[in-house]
Amino acid sequence: MTAALPPIAPDDFRRLVGRWATGVSVVTGHDDEGDVGLTVNALLSVALHPPLLLVSLSTDADSTPVIARTGAFGVSVLAASQRALSERFARPVPAREKFATVAGHRGVGGLLLLDGSLAAFECRVVDRHPVADHVLFIGEVVHAEPGANGPPLVFYRSRYAEAAGSDRLTLPAPPG
Ligand SMILES: Cc1cc2nc3c(=O)[nH]c(=O)nc-3n(C[C@H](O)[C@H](O)[C@H](O)COP(=O)(O)O)c2cc1C
Repeated sequence: MTAALPPIAPDDFRRLVGRWATGVSVVTGHDDEGDVGLTVNALLSVALHPPLLLVSLSTDADSTPVIARTGAFGVSVLAASQRALSERFARPVPAREKFATVAGHRGVGGLLLLDGSLAAFECRVVDRHPVADHVLFIGEVVHAEPGANGPPLVFYRSRYAEAAGSDRLTLPAPPG
């Protein structure tokens, strides 16, 4: 029998998987008590027919039980100019504080979508899978809207990078 490889330490895993550059979105939910939302980079386009999006949400996040209960979530794909929104929606503060002064509009399903985003979607949850300390929600897109045409906000090696065009990605200096 071959010896098991030692498991990778969580910090090492985070550092290595951070080399997978992603966009950044704000995922929103809504119930009788109001709007909830969080910054997400674990977003995946699963299929085109029907259009399916997957988000991986921590069971610790306040937004997760709301999305689980209501079976609906919104996705606003952030532009490079919306970095402050990404930072705001990643803070462990009450939802009301996150949404104060945020410019948004309601999609057809009533979810709040952020103004100035590159694209926005409303999804109906069609499948969910609890995995470790996250829940994977697969949502069918029931409403999609194009938005601004600027460069995307990019997350790479635990930091924000700026895409100045498809062929010009300005990366931060690697951490020392
Ligand atoms: C760039 C970035 C990406 C993130 N991606 C995720 C993610 O994919 N899933 C997740 O559960 N949390 C993610 N987070 C952390 C949440 O945004 C953060 O825990 C948030 O405070 C949860 O908000 P809530 O408790 O109000 O729902 C990310 C944070 C940052 C800065």
